Amino acid sequence: ESLDATGLHVLPGAIDVHVHFREPGYTHKEDWETGTAAAAMGGTTTVFEMPNTHPPTRSIVELRQKQDAAKKAYVDYGIYGLLAEDNIAELPGLIKGGVNAFKCFMGNTFGNLPSPSTGAMLEGFEIIAPTGLRISLHAETASIMAWRQKRLMEAGRNDPLAHVAARPAVVAAEAVARAAILAEWTGARLHVLHISSGLELGPLRDAKARGVDITGGTCPCYLLLDTRDYATLGSVIRVNPPVREASDSEAIWAALKDGTVDLVETDHAPHTPEEKTKAVIWEADCGFPGVETQMPLMLNEVARGRMSVEDYVRWSAENPAKRFGLWPVKGRIAAGAHADIAVVDLARTETIRAAALHSRAKVTPFEGKDVTGIPVHTLVRGRFVQKDRTLVTEARGHGQQVTDVQRMPASAVRNADKTLAAEIARARA
Ligand code: DOR
Ligand code: ZN
Ligand code: ZN
Repeated sequence: ESLDATGLHVLPGAIDVHVHFREPGYTHKEDWETGTAAAAMGGTTTVFEMPNTHPPTRSIVELRQKQDAAKKAYVDYGIYGLLAEDNIAELPGLIKGGVNAFKCFMGNTFGNLPSPSTGAMLEGFEIIAPTGLRISLHAETASIMAWRQKRLMEAGRNDPLAHVAARPAVVAAEAVARAAILAEWTGARLHVLHISSGLELGPLRDAKARGVDITGGTCPCYLLLDTRDYATLGSVIRVNPPVREASDSEAIWAALKDGTVDLVETDHAPHTPEEKTKAVIWEADCGFPGVETQMPLMLNEVARGRMSVEDYVRWSAENPAKRFGLWPVKGRIAAGAHADIAVVDLARTETIRAAALHSRAKVTPFEGKDVTGIPVHTLVRGRFVQKDRTLVTEARGHGQQVTDVQRMPASAVRNADKTLAAEIARARA
């Protein structure tokens, strides 16, 4: 197939290390076919999918179930295994079974998975560290938020901004600092998901300066929305962690530019319009789809002069590939790399319409926004999955699980408690 790319730009396809595709268990919200179709339409060629499905990806049994569901994928994918209070014994099985990373829900969110105690986290980090697989954190501390939400509800607060009050930035910053100390001890590699505040940047910077292998990601909503949008968007904007002050967005932009925040991810969190639109904020599901709108929203910031195309490629493809072990095979355009490509028209303007999204969740906080910079073709390993703004339906099932995730040699692990690790290994043998 030939392609006339006159006037177009050829970028590495985006690598989104944070999507929720809901299958198995919640397929009325999304499934692997609709989620990866949305990715293909959005110029995203690799996704890492989260474990808060039903059942959650807590052992090799559920991993195999998820791999089976993922056979429908249009784009390549990694699969997260869960690190929780009650599945520490399953971690070796998940590792052997081929998970690409782990997810630790320090804060409660959709799926209501119980947050692990610090003890379980430490033990989990010790088990995972020698593999070099990265552990992505939902860095908010559940016990603190439970107190605050209870008090707000007692005070009769049920408006959208009460959600921000229930989950203040200090909750996220405290979780980042605590997890970073555990990583410093064990040598585990961490990724702080969805950075939403300026306050998280301090502990993240400090940990990096101490030599902890810790990275950070943020999402378009934290860069482009702020508390002024709650009045117009209502419960649709509800997301964990919450969208905060304009000063937080400013701080996150600066942190992307100086490298403290490494990458842009979407937290693609599909819920139906009915589940999102509630009079009482506490009843609205958290999150919204993002994998199809990320590239247009960010390229629109290029068009507005807020960042360069080179910045974008570093945050959307190069850094995700490097930090999650896919480099040099993915995340760049070069000999020897996979032909994972987004061909973009930097001058084309479209209006974001929820009804036109390929996600099953037809709702977005960016409804009606004009964006300039559109992926017009997407190729995964050399094959078109989107052509001329149309999904290539024959490419369903072309997606494969990424197998190139780097494993760090065990010798790189620093302060793991060798005695305990040996005891644990013996007990599990
Ligand atoms: O708002 C959110 N929604 N935050 C999360 O961390 C999870 C996600 C979901 O799965 O719906
Ligand atoms: Zn999260
Ligand atoms: Zn998420």
